[in-house]
Amino acid sequence: MASVAEIFKTMTYGPAPESATGALDWLKEHDATFGHFIDGEFTRPGESRFETTNPATGLLLATVSQGGDEDIERAVQAARAAQPGWEALGGHGRARFLYALARQVQKHSRLFAVLESLDNGKPIRETRDLDIPLVARHFYHHAGWAQLRDTEMPGAKPLGVIGQIIPWNFPLLMLSWKIAPAIAMGNTVVLKPAEFTPLTALLFAEICQRIGLPKGVINIVTGDGTTGAALVAHPDVNKIAFTGSTDVGRKIRQSTAGSGKKLSLELGGKSPFIVFEDADLDSAVEGVVDAIWLNQGQVCCAGSRLLVQESIEEKFLEKLRRRMDLLRVGDPLDKATDIGAIVAPVQLARITELVNAGVAEGADIFQGTCPASECGGCFYPPTLLTGVSPASTVVQEEIFGPVLVALPFRTAAEAVALANNTRYGLAASLWTENITLSLDIAGKLKAGVVWVNSSNLLDAAAGFGGFRESGFGREGGREGLWEYITTSYPSSAEERGKTGRGAATRNERAGEMDQTPKLFIGGKQVRPDSGYSLRVGDLEVGEGNRKDIRNAVEAARAAAGKWATTSGHGRAQILYYLAENLEQRAESFDADELQKSIEVLFACAAWADKYDGAMHRVAQKAITLAIPEPLGVIGVGCPAAYPLLGFISAVAPALAMGSVVVAVPSEINPIPATRLYQVLETSDVPAGVVNIVTGKQKPLLETLSGHDDVEGVWMIAAPKDLKKSVETLSAGNMKRLWTPESPLPDLQEALREATQIKNVWIPYTDELPW
Ligand code: NAI
Repeated sequence: MASVAEIFKTMTYGPAPESATGALDWLKEHDATFGHFIDGEFTRPGESRFETTNPATGLLLATVSQGGDEDIERAVQAARAAQPGWEALGGHGRARFLYALARQVQKHSRLFAVLESLDNGKPIRETRDLDIPLVARHFYHHAGWAQLRDTEMPGAKPLGVIGQIIPWNFPLLMLSWKIAPAIAMGNTVVLKPAEFTPLTALLFAEICQRIGLPKGVINIVTGDGTTGAALVAHPDVNKIAFTGSTDVGRKIRQSTAGSGKKLSLELGGKSPFIVFEDADLDSAVEGVVDAIWLNQGQVCCAGSRLLVQESIEEKFLEKLRRRMDLLRVGDPLDKATDIGAIVAPVQLARITELVNAGVAEGADIFQGTCPASECGGCFYPPTLLTGVSPASTVVQEEIFGPVLVALPFRTAAEAVALANNTRYGLAASLWTENITLSLDIAGKLKAGVVWVNSSNLLDAAAGFGGFRESGFGREGGREGLWEYITTSYPSSAEERGKTGRGAATRNERAGEMDQTPKLFIGGKQVRPDSGYSLRVGDLEVGEGNRKDIRNAVEAARAAAGKWATTSGHGRAQILYYLAENLEQRAESFDADELQKSIEVLFACAAWADKYDGAMHRVAQKAITLAIPEPLGVIGVGCPAAYPLLGFISAVAPALAMGSVVVAVPSEINPIPATRLYQVLETSDVPAGVVNIVTGKQKPLLETLSGHDDVEGVWMIAAPKDLKKSVETLSAGNMKRLWTPESPLPDLQEALREATQIKNVWIPYTDELPW
């Protein structure tokens, strides 16, 4: 007689299909034809429509309206009209609606799960156990933040109308990530779902009606990229939140440049999955399954690059291949299916093309023996590519499919170098039983999310978002809320009026004026490359050019690593010392600005060792440490008003948080900034941490903005035309921009802008011994 173990091995699975009836009935109720959801009503389906099909079968599901400029206009107007009332409802009032949305999602979870599987092709096991529960979790969590906004974030105000554009890989989950925080904070939204997967958003719109959500708070306009572009271009939208490809993100960055719209971008990735020789290999294999075969690998944070220590490479890959043989590809509605359909033929073609390119470049391909799907739709088998080089196409490009590339490494240092060898920085997963090693590596990875001995864990309480070309901004957690509120205000008329004060004062002109100040680069006073000087009233300063900026960035980069790892305590001491030395030179500066600058330096020194980040309590058996990391090299365009205080108010928070700067002082009066050279030289500020290039702000900031080795550009109280060109140029490497209107922006905001949050997930249970 066969043993149970043998039976487990030889037993074949029968089908366990989830019924599609409920979802198909819902489509029938609507004649499988949909308009948009605007101002609380469904519009009549327009002339211009498109079809959405089931990728597993190729069969038509519904016809959906293609939103045009007029639809966007009406939706934005509805959102604008609804916004004051929604804000006036107060935190508790909004919390009640978010709670009602969460409850309705739970009540209709089966319908949502089936509809999502039909429209997207992802396995029902995932929509049922992951997507939809996380959607409900997001609304619950943000009901809490609505309730707490005014006590936890005093002074917070909503931004207004938010335009949101989402992709097709987690249609309803991305909707919840976008809508929940936005409306919790008192904004209203116009959301455009992806053209491949609009259906669950339309079902969600019905739920909004059912709970009596005030009209216009949530508007949903369906359509393709042109609809998205119209939303981005609409002048009455205050912010765009986008998730999707890096290419489209770049276009959006360019198109919003100079418009004053706030922007957050969650883009692509090529995330490393690192297995050290002392890892629990069986768990790590399951981790790989979650990392790259969840949702057919169509996940922005998919662990698509397996880095495995050479000593265990063969053993690990062998285990992995065996596991791959057991993965079941097929009908997404079958509860035993692991891998469903690819969202659309165009994506299938893209995956096939990239894998073929990899094989042509010499990769070995393994696709296991799992039977191919018999559904006849868009399927691609789980695939492992080995024998690849770090520079090959499949290692560098986001494939966005069930394709894993594997590379060996020898040492931990090599693992980090390989992991960071990408233009992206979204997520990373690392596996080792050695806690010292895991936390050491977690700190060194350039990624917004790091999972220790786990992978692809997502939760509303933890921030999610990338570094580098993976975009900027966070979704989830307290850090995600900052994307939807403002705490600083445009400069007052009085402050603007003070621009004239930028001109050199009598004090500032006393002494040393016979020589033209140089530039300050790498801790030294250097002559400008051009040899020219710039007239400022009847004085002169060195006129920096592109080459000087490049030298300054090089000096800043060289200093960045050491400054970032200097302790907060160490940085605080230097900032205090700077304040002390500034005071010694009181006669060189405007007395009022000097006094306030010293206060700012003290405040920044105070924060240097107190800006702690957070520990998030996520719903899984883990905690996440939300660690503010220094942004890196920041280019700073200082305001025209307050030539000293404006400079210090921008530069000091960056230094306090461990970033380094290339500052371009006020063009009207750069003299006080040049007086700082000697103060910096005598205050133990390491060479390269502060670099000052005087000259015409526009060309200098444009050079900084186009420079690939600069992580952020700040333009404080900059004129509109300057913002436009700098924002356009910044799209190259997706740098973070900060353009506060006030010449003396809010300190807390500056500290946030000087950092980026890395969320490190650590396995943890707080099971108490009683
Ligand atoms: P996409 O970036 O074109 O689409 C995402 C969303 O942006 C959709 O709603 C689309 O209609 C909209 N959109 C397209 N062009 C737009 C424009 N000019 N202005 C405003 N909105 C616009 O992504 P696509 O073409 O569906 O997929 C292509 C590749 O992008 C994938 O193979 C994958 O590599 C990547 N991708 C990454 C995602 C992520 O979560 N990071 C999600 C989806 C795709």
